[in-house]
Amino acid sequence: MFEKLKQRWRVNALNLLLIICTFAVGGSLCGYAGRRIMNLFDIEKGVLWVILYIILITILWPLCVLIISIPLGQFGFFKRYLMKIWGRISGKKEGKKINVAIFASGAGSNAQKIILSNPSYNIALIVCNKPEAGVLKIAAEHHIPTLLIEKERFFKEDTYLEILKGHKIDFIVLAGFLWKIPAKLIGAYPNKIINIHPALLPNYGGKGMYGSRVHEAVIAAKEKESGISIHYVDELYDHGNIIFQAKCEICEDDTADTLAQKIHALEHQHFPETIEQAIQQMQKQR
Ligand code: GRF
Repeated sequence: MFEKLKQRWRVNALNLLLIICTFAVGGSLCGYAGRRIMNLFDIEKGVLWVILYIILITILWPLCVLIISIPLGQFGFFKRYLMKIWGRISGKKEGKKINVAIFASGAGSNAQKIILSNPSYNIALIVCNKPEAGVLKIAAEHHIPTLLIEKERFFKEDTYLEILKGHKIDFIVLAGFLWKIPAKLIGAYPNKIINIHPALLPNYGGKGMYGSRVHEAVIAAKEKESGISIHYVDELYDHGNIIFQAKCEICEDDTADTLAQKIHALEHQHFPETIEQAIQQMQKQR
């Protein structure tokens, strides 16, 4: 049963546990608050009392689970969960969800943050070029299909475009994917591919500027600040229109490693939300 829920909600074991705790604590809080409120009114315990109590807890329940979900870090999940229930009650049809592919070849910490942000879109595929990449484990944990792609196939063939089509991919997020994106893929997804770069573009970007190399260059240049850039992808490395940037301070004793940690924290904080905004933007333009 737990396995089924994990698959259905696309969450890992820890998140499932926190969600169940939110349901339990939120439900108890709702019952307790409901009884306290009912005691304020002088109504005899009978049919009317029961009817009013049911109406009251129906109103209180969403409020209570939302309140409890905040300290347990599950607000995003419950917000969407309740909106879904409301959609069903009000008879509003849920619009077709946008399908997103995440291209990543590293540890996948950004991919994980995106998945756990309970996005409004569906993460339909994870594309990776390294069989040993941590992101593949994350994909498996969240039951997300993966496509492992070889260099030859990515640059010389376009059969993978059919696979993207097969998964009905509408939008692509690059989260630590180091290969240059071929013109054919950009042509198939114009203004629908975004990338995150661990520096303040247009500085410290371009070919060979990835991972710790970026932070080493920033430290060597004695910069006082660095940051992240989220941008649309065009045919040049780290070049398309910038959607979002955030900065962090560099202290005198910062090393490439400590700077990388600050940058990762910024990425985790801002990437999921920026993707949501870019997708909304795309939908408006449709
Ligand atoms: C991030 O720093 C991102 O800016 C860069 O690749 C890194 C990926 O990290 N493009 P992770 O695999 O998400 O942890």
